[in-house]
Amino acid sequence: NGKLNVAIDGPAGAGKSTVARRVASKLSYVYVDTGAMYRAVTYYMLRHEIKPEEVDTVLAHVRKLDIELIPAEGGQKVFLNGEEVSGPIRSREVTGVVSLYSQIEDLRHHLVEMQRKMALRKGVVMDGRDIGTTVLPDAEVKIFMTASVRERALRRFKELDKTEEVTLDQLEREIAARDKLDQEREVSPLRQAEDAFVLDTTSMSIDEVVEHIVTRCMEVR
Ligand code: C5P
Repeated sequence: NGKLNVAIDGPAGAGKSTVARRVASKLSYVYVDTGAMYRAVTYYMLRHEIKPEEVDTVLAHVRKLDIELIPAEGGQKVFLNGEEVSGPIRSREVTGVVSLYSQIEDLRHHLVEMQRKMALRKGVVMDGRDIGTTVLPDAEVKIFMTASVRERALRRFKELDKTEEVTLDQLEREIAARDKLDQEREVSPLRQAEDAFVLDTTSMSIDEVVEHIVTRCMEVR
């Protein structure tokens, strides 16, 4: 059908989801936010008071979980066992511990299987940490998006829900801590694929980044 798969990886707050969503919309592709899947699992575990150390219990529950990503205007909606959780999975409570659950090897295998199925028919823009390396190693376009920690903290700060009291420094520390966990975990850590194109977006606008990626897709196709 002439469609490609596009993998977009990078650290927290690099703007991957905004960019991936827009690229998908420009190409009429489906956007898949894999971080939302790890967040949905984390939200469920917090709600049921299951700790990341309780690996067997986590896995038993994960296998029965129904996670759905539904394309919606302006992005995607996330459903957990039929209940919409798009908002709550973005809370700082979930953000603070998601990297602890996402280290669990069999949990990753389970989600990666789901993600691969979503991309079988091509025409998917998927963002995450291990898409180009593990989930879709054959993706036709692979982008590794980065930006300085300060810039990423600043971007998050600007989009923050003003009811959450947090300083820019605090955000920067939280982002740096999550990067560290994501980069140092044993199973498919955050790392750029050898054949990924690295985009440092520190001083690029969203439009520029989107244009750049769309152009690469056109060239490949
Ligand atoms: O992309 P987002 O910041 O929403 O991802 C939340 C967390 O989910 C990441 O910090 C990481 O621990 C985990 N994640 C992952 N692999 C992915 C996507 C997200 O481990 N492909």
